[in-house]
Amino acid sequence: MKRIAILTSGGDGPGLNACIRAVTRTALKQGAEVFGVRRGYTGLVQNAIFQLESRDVGGILGKGGTILGTARCPEFKDIKVRRTALRHLNQQGIEGLVVVGGNGSLTGAVVLHEMDFPTIGIPASIDNDIDKTDIAVGVDTTLNTILEAVDRIKDTASSHQRAFLVEVMGRNCGYLALQSGLAGGAELILVPEIPGPSLEEIAQEVVDTYVRGKGHCIMLIAEGWQPGTRAVEEYLLSRQGELGFDVRVTVLGYLQRGGRPSVFDRTLGTRMGAAAAEALLSGQSGQMTALKAGQIIFVPLAEAVQQLKPLSRNLLKLVELMD
Ligand code: ADP
Ligand code: F6P
Repeated sequence: MKRIAILTSGGDGPGLNACIRAVTRTALKQGAEVFGVRRGYTGLVQNAIFQLESRDVGGILGKGGTILGTARCPEFKDIKVRRTALRHLNQQGIEGLVVVGGNGSLTGAVVLHEMDFPTIGIPASIDNDIDKTDIAVGVDTTLNTILEAVDRIKDTASSHQRAFLVEVMGRNCGYLALQSGLAGGAELILVPEIPGPSLEEIAQEVVDTYVRGKGHCIMLIAEGWQPGTRAVEEYLLSRQGELGFDVRVTVLGYLQRGGRPSVFDRTLGTRMGAAAAEALLSGQSGQMTALKAGQIIFVPLAEAVQQLKPLSRNLLKLVELMD
């Protein structure tokens, strides 16, 4: 294989540029030609494919986002649309594709592999919901961003004797809330994987925290938890007089996805990118790079996308211990 392409797809996150740089430089060093695809699968469909040289990926390691752009492209689920994409790849003589993205994007890579087009996936999603890898590219930086916010919120919460509801991303996965709640010493963590507690129980937890003499009550809420942050806010405000604390809400939102990637994410993106390029050029397909016990390994893409990664029981136990 002498011509490969790379795309980034789905929600962006820190560390994508490290992947692009590593795939490009590793493949160029092996004498291959490398092509970038703009805006994920949309760029394949629209034939937005251009050649990448070593200098094109210089100076990007420390930048957030993705120099290739990303997009959601729901029409890619249609086989006719995918055939158009494959026609564009074939026209340029491209023989293999590295897909960097979350569960949906990697599912796209599986279907291309099943259409006999060689693909290798790199797991990248701030949600850390991709199965068969200990962690995905982007998660570490996002956790540090959340932690910085939580530490700052704690300062002001303690100064004013306030209860804070801090909502974090994660789609239907509670990992970001759980991990940042553990590292941030939150008083309460609400994740979709664990139903409840009721609004009454949450209010009671706030009261108990006050009675125990704490100066603040920080609650980490995953965006996918039901009935949602606003419902908790409304309920707590309706019982404001009994709580001891004032109540405030901070929805961290998209700032969690941006910013300079951490050392860990730059390194993980570089390791996975290099491994992905080598695997594709050596004729492998339908595989995903994964981090397992510190080593980069390969797992079948089809297995990785079969289910979302379950919450770690060890992490849950640790949170309970710290209560
Ligand atoms: P993420 O990759 O971050 O999980 P999405 O779930 O939105 O984000 O998926 C990103 C893109 O992957 C979709 O917009 C679509 O282009 C592609 N994709 C998702 N599921 C499939 C599928 N079943 N078949 C083909 N392409 C898919
Ligand atoms: O999957 C990453 C993520 O940031 C989720 O945490 C969030 O729910 C979603 O993407 C937001 O997607 P969009 O950028 O389409 O609003």
